[in-house]
This record gives sequence, C-alpha cells and structure tokens, in this order.
Amino acid sequence: MATRNSSATPRRSARKQPDALRMLKDDHDKVKGLFEKFKNSRSDDKKGELAQTICKELTVHTQLEEEIFYPAAREAIGDDDTMNEAVVEHAAAKDLIADIQKMSTDDDMFDAKVTVLGEFVNHHIREEQNQMFPQVRKSDLDLNDLAEQMRTRKRELMGEEGEDEDAGASRSSQGSSNARANA
Ligand SMILES: [Fe+2]
Ligand SMILES: [Fe+2]
Repeated sequence: MATRNSSATPRRSARKQPDALRMLKDDHDKVKGLFEKFKNSRSDDKKGELAQTICKELTVHTQLEEEIFYPAAREAIGDDDTMNEAVVEHAAAKDLIADIQKMSTDDDMFDAKVTVLGEFVNHHIREEQNQMFPQVRKSDLDLNDLAEQMRTRKRELMGEEGEDEDAGASRSSQGSSNARANA
C-alpha cells in the first residue's frame, strides 16, 4: 500500500546546489558559449545584444571573484603569484569591457574588441581552471559555504545590473519621494 510521503525525491534536488568551483565553471561555460554565438552571428543587432550580455555576465562574474572567491582562495592556497596574475588579467578585461559598452556595432573596431576580449577571457579561464581551481579543490576551504555567499551576492549584483536599464524612468519619481522624505 502506498503511503502518503512515498515521494521523497524533491529533497534531493533542493540539496544539490553547486559548490563554488562548479558555480564559477558554469559561468565560464556560459560566457564561452556567448562568445561562440557572437563569432557565428551575422546580424549587427544580434551581435550588439550578445556583446552587452557578455559584458554584463563578465562584470558580475569578476566582481564575485574579486569580492568573495579570490580573497578566500588566496588565503587557502597561499599562491600569491597565481592570484596576482588573475587580478591583473581582470583589470585588463575590464578596460576592454568599458570600451565595448561605449561602442556602437557600426564602429570598425567593435568586432575586434569583442574578439580580443574573448581570446583574453579564454586564456584567463584556462589559468583559473587548470592552475587555481585544482589548488583550491585540494585546500580545506569550505566550497559549499563559499557558494552560499556567492549566490547571495550574485543575486544582488544581477539586480543592480538589471536596474540600470530602467533607472532613468524611475529617477523622476524617486526624486520627488526623496524631496518628500527630506521635508
Ligand atoms: Fe572566472
Ligand atoms: Fe577570473
């Protein structure tokens, strides 16, 4: 006879959250896929859209690494050379991202900038996954706890990035409510 709580399966999916390294690798795979789509796209509109998505994804990912993952990894693996190189690579990527975000798809340099960013990011991802992550995996860092912190922060950052688009529309009403609050 079937009992009421015979279906205990949902618990498994709720428990199975990716750890910090898995989360970062998933981001890497996602952004590599976006660069691939960019390369294969023939439409300027589509390319423009993809480039903006790539920039947003990379901005959130690098910030998450710099705020939460890198400091923890640095302490856990004690390999300052690897960590410093990663930070320098992020800075170079951010410069390219800032250029791309200001550019129009009509610009002669648009495709080149995105392509170079892609090559750059691929190199950086290889270094993280082949040098940094294996050391972190061997350390005693709690990767599930770290993942929890990263998930919370990621939600905040994705929200902030999304707000930019309608910030202009809400600014006027916000201005009047601020005036009221200050009165
Ligand atoms: Fe990364
Ligand atoms: Fe990184």
